[in-house]
Amino acid sequence: MESNNTNYEAAAWIATNNADELSAIQGYYNLLEIVTDPADQAVIKEIISDEKNHAHLLTEMALKYDSGIAEAKD
Ligand SMILES: [Fe+2]
Repeated sequence: MESNNTNYEAAAWIATNNADELSAIQGYYNLLEIVTDPADQAVIKEIISDEKNHAHLLTEMALKYDSGIAEAKD
């Protein structure tokens, strides 16, 4: 099957950025363990929630760019 290197490169970079999002999430969970102010904890939880949304969006984006094969439905 013919591949599109430009799309593959985009998918690889998206995956790299997604890994950064997951690393950031872990970092915020670590921060959550040492921050004691409930208001600050709430901010950190909101940031984690946002980062999870970013990771979800990037996962979908990477799958869109990686090739012409559609995702299985089962
Ligand atoms: Fe993010």
